[in-house]
Amino acid sequence: MRSILVIGANGKLGSKVHANFAQSPHHTVIGVDVDELDIADFHATRAYITTHNPQLVINCAAWTDVDGCAKDPQKALKINGYGAGNIALASAEIGAGMVHISTNEVFDGKSPQPYNEYDPTHPINPYAYSKWTAERMVMAHNPHHYIVRTAWLFAHGGKNFIHSILNAVNAGKQLRVVTDEVANPTYNDDLADAIVQLADTARYGIYHMVNTGSASRYQFARYVLDKTGHADVAITPISSKEWARPSTPPTYASLNNNNGAFLGITLRHWHDAVDTFLMKEGLLK
Ligand SMILES: NC(=O)c1ccc[n+]([C@@H]2O[C@H](COP(=O)([O-])OP(=O)(O)OC[C@H]3O[C@@H](n4cnc5c(N)ncnc54)[C@H](OP(=O)(O)O)[C@@H]3O)[C@@H](O)[C@H]2O)c1
Repeated sequence: MRSILVIGANGKLGSKVHANFAQSPHHTVIGVDVDELDIADFHATRAYITTHNPQLVINCAAWTDVDGCAKDPQKALKINGYGAGNIALASAEIGAGMVHISTNEVFDGKSPQPYNEYDPTHPINPYAYSKWTAERMVMAHNPHHYIVRTAWLFAHGGKNFIHSILNAVNAGKQLRVVTDEVANPTYNDDLADAIVQLADTARYGIYHMVNTGSASRYQFARYVLDKTGHADVAITPISSKEWARPSTPPTYASLNNNNGAFLGITLRHWHDAVDTFLMKEGLLK
């Protein structure tokens, strides 16, 4: 029986990871979120982790408002960067392993091909810089780390790209979607399953856990419309320069899952994952 602590347990990924471990007969799990623990507070984080004494800590907590991070980079760094560092220090102190969730945005998006796990990183916006800092701190403070980079999560409940597109169609809005931002649409439930598998391997390192295949935002939106009975709805392709926002996302930040695949941990193609998501939401036509 292995004891797990999920931090960020009310978030999209954290709640699913927590639920998965709760169903496992081989794990005991507790979850905590910002209402009870602020990871930016080192002493509180250390006290919480040492008191509960888990064998593995999973950090799903972050300030994920990318545009908010662009407006307040110091806050982003404090929560996302130093917060992860606090967890790494405290978990290492009690000999616990750590899973840390990171992002494809640690890359600058200038590569013509998908990024491998040990390719050079180069964050180009404040959210990305805060997450990049987190990776450095986790690697420095806890040798028993799994850094799991992911991208473009869509989850049941709450806000996501798929619902934003469908809500806009239902509201009769003209759709304009960028063609020059490319990554891997990734189903939250598939990622949570992969994390549970990875967490028991003791094969520490960096992992790219995304659904297979890349898409632009435009292609992602087109696929969703075609699969939900909206094939006749037009989308105007635009460039990211025409979609002004505070943050600058990397243009081509698609990831390759090499390290997970060597362990037999693979995620299906994003088309299949979107189909399952739409089916569960009663939206697949
Ligand atoms: N969503 C994506 O497309 C995506 C893509 C790549 C990587 N990621 C990474 O995946 C991880 C999970 O993302 P998610 O989509 O599940 O995010 P989420 O739904 O926003 O969940 C994050 C959770 O962390 C909590 N939190 C925020 N500040 C905190 C603090 N100071 N102390 C403790 N908890 C705090 C949030 O609480 P509040 O909601 O109250 O702030 C929320 O419950 C994050 O590390 C994110 O950077 C996400």
